[in-house]
Amino acid sequence: MKYKGLGLLAVVGTILVLAGCGGSKQPESQSKQLLQVQKRRLTHTKVKQVADNVHVLVPRTAKKQNLVQAQTYKAAALSAMKKVKGDAQSKAAYVTFSGEPTYRNFWRLTPTVRVYQRQKGDTKQVKQQKLAGINVDMTSGKTVTAASLMTGVQQLRAVNYHALAQAVAHKHYTPIQLQEARAMVFLNSMQAQNFKLAADSLTIYPTANKLNIKSVQLPMTTIAGYLNKLNKVHEPTFGNKKVVALTFDDGPNVKTTPTVLKTLKQEHVKATFFMVGYEVKANPQLARTVVKDGHEVGTHTFDHKNLAFLNPAAALAEVNTAENAMFNALGTLPTMLRPPYGAVNATHDSSIPLPSVQWAVDSQDWRVHAPAPIVSRINATVYPGSIILMHDIHPQSVAALPNVIKTLKAKGYTFVTVNQLLGKYLLPGEQYFGAGNHRPI
Ligand code: NI
Repeated sequence: MKYKGLGLLAVVGTILVLAGCGGSKQPESQSKQLLQVQKRRLTHTKVKQVADNVHVLVPRTAKKQNLVQAQTYKAAALSAMKKVKGDAQSKAAYVTFSGEPTYRNFWRLTPTVRVYQRQKGDTKQVKQQKLAGINVDMTSGKTVTAASLMTGVQQLRAVNYHALAQAVAHKHYTPIQLQEARAMVFLNSMQAQNFKLAADSLTIYPTANKLNIKSVQLPMTTIAGYLNKLNKVHEPTFGNKKVVALTFDDGPNVKTTPTVLKTLKQEHVKATFFMVGYEVKANPQLARTVVKDGHEVGTHTFDHKNLAFLNPAAALAEVNTAENAMFNALGTLPTMLRPPYGAVNATHDSSIPLPSVQWAVDSQDWRVHAPAPIVSRINATVYPGSIILMHDIHPQSVAALPNVIKTLKAKGYTFVTVNQLLGKYLLPGEQYFGAGNHRPI
């Protein structure tokens, strides 16, 4: 381990009490060996007095002193001391740090304030309290913030949304509780430090919340692509392989969707369904069957409103209501939005935390009343990497599907889901049309 002890030691013990309170007797229980260890570590630290009887241990070397801003802990130490009864002169507080390596050259330092009191000639620790931890880059000596992990606010929004989705997943929350979950603040800005990074996960400590959620641990597999200052994540490429993603909007519909599912199963094709909330609410079992069959799902709003015509608050409410319906049926929040009519605008989208999945090939299946034109239109406009728009609510679409799949297979296409096509690290504020084909809203 390259960390040779900053001297930010959790247990400070008697030496400091002697220094702070002057002349108190060392408790008998303190072993000499521990004392030696502490002395050694303490040579690496510097005691800073930040108030009367408040001391903070900071690293001795100039570069690493920046890791700990001693003044930051003055208020917390004073408040901890106040909670201890007795004459102010009898009390002293020390803020010390324990550290653990978390990821590469990052460490997390956890400050602890300890209050000592002189009682009848003896000095005793009477209070101990952990304070909010800090992440530090041991190489540069700088604080690690959200900006150390990711390049921009869209990545931050994506991570926050995934944190929310994970916090609520399969918890059977009511719509009111979901709303409380949405009010939780995870990473509030690029300066946020309320997280712990490990090689395989990012743990976020949200602000106090009614659901009493203290931390959310996000697996790196869910968010690696958003931490794009640490990880190089490439969009999927398919080489010479011809892939397309079939998408179905406006369901699930009890009359038509089961046949679509049957055809997909027979053809061994996985697709992506963008469901409207009122249909999910009416047919929760069918929504679950879609997921159980291995297809991806996203939201298509609650009742198919044109979001671009709504103000940001109304657009978000529409998305949230739809999410509630999916959460009720599936136990999870959707992570993709297909905006009805493909209608987006930058103003409303600043409030919606989901990526917008558009399409490149429009089957126009709602326009016609027979399957043949649907098959020929798709075949005339398809290209490798494209997202194909269909609807699982029209009989002509259901009838066309077997031939759509067969003709595309004959052309050498294989079928993938939207996340397989685009990669799973999609960003809010971005609209996606196909592989390598996306742009900001
Ligand atoms: Ni639609």
